[in-house]
Amino acid sequence: MVAPDTRVLAPGDPVDPDGWHLRSATLADVDGVHRLACEPLVYRYLFDGTAPERDSIAAEIARAIADAARTRLGLWILQCPRAPYGGCVQLRPDLSAKSAELIYFLDPAHWGRGLATRMGWTAISRAFQGPFDVVVAGTDGANAASLAVMRRLGMRFHRAVRYPLGEGFEYTLARGDAAPKSQPALLAIRREDPPAPAPRWSRS
Ligand SMILES: CC(C)(COP(=O)(O)OP(=O)(O)OC[C@H]1O[C@@H](n2cnc3c(N)ncnc32)[C@H](O)[C@@H]1OP(=O)(O)O)[C@@H](O)C(=O)NCCC(=O)NCCS
Repeated sequence: MVAPDTRVLAPGDPVDPDGWHLRSATLADVDGVHRLACEPLVYRYLFDGTAPERDSIAAEIARAIADAARTRLGLWILQCPRAPYGGCVQLRPDLSAKSAELIYFLDPAHWGRGLATRMGWTAISRAFQGPFDVVVAGTDGANAASLAVMRRLGMRFHRAVRYPLGEGFEYTLARGDAAPKSQPALLAIRREDPPAPAPRWSRS
């Protein structure tokens, strides 16, 4: 059974030798997240093959800030000292259904190290600490890397769906489901300021 994870660490605890952790997104992150989302390998499936507009990223972050104020679920940035925008994980809450939709993406420079699985597991643990009973994630059928993340998270096939690029799948993990056999290490969720913009005189 997926019980609320009690291994949540205090802010600032050393959880990762590389210093990877999550922090809540703010409106100061719009450009950083937009840059990441405009990587072709990121928008290929996540935004149906078209780089997203800056405004749509700004709207998503604004929505996540409002969600976080109501529910403690929102959008978190993955960072470490040498990578201020390593990736993102989001939970879009639906309070009436007691469910949340899980979305994740990584800078391709950080693929292949288990970081998406850790982000997802940290977010799911947060959801099950609150009044949410089920987490849902959807992916294009051809997005093998994303399907593998869902399976590593212990999520199970729920239904086939139709996306703009073709057939896709929804997977779910409910509070009462079996947790994955080897539980991914949690990331700390820290409260801290986003990186300061470069001073005007240093821009080219
Ligand atoms: C989906 C996405 C985040 C997956 O990234 P990823 O790096 O493959 O996933 P993880 O971070 O969980 O890493 C898993 C890989 O790291 C390896 N790994 C190394 N250490 C690991 C660990 N401690 N735990 C788990 N996996 C580990 C796994 O074996 C696996 O490698 P493989 O791909 O060779 O089998 C990435 O492909 C992406 O950003 N895609 C674009 C956005 C997108 O499509 N998002 C999904 C829609 S919601």
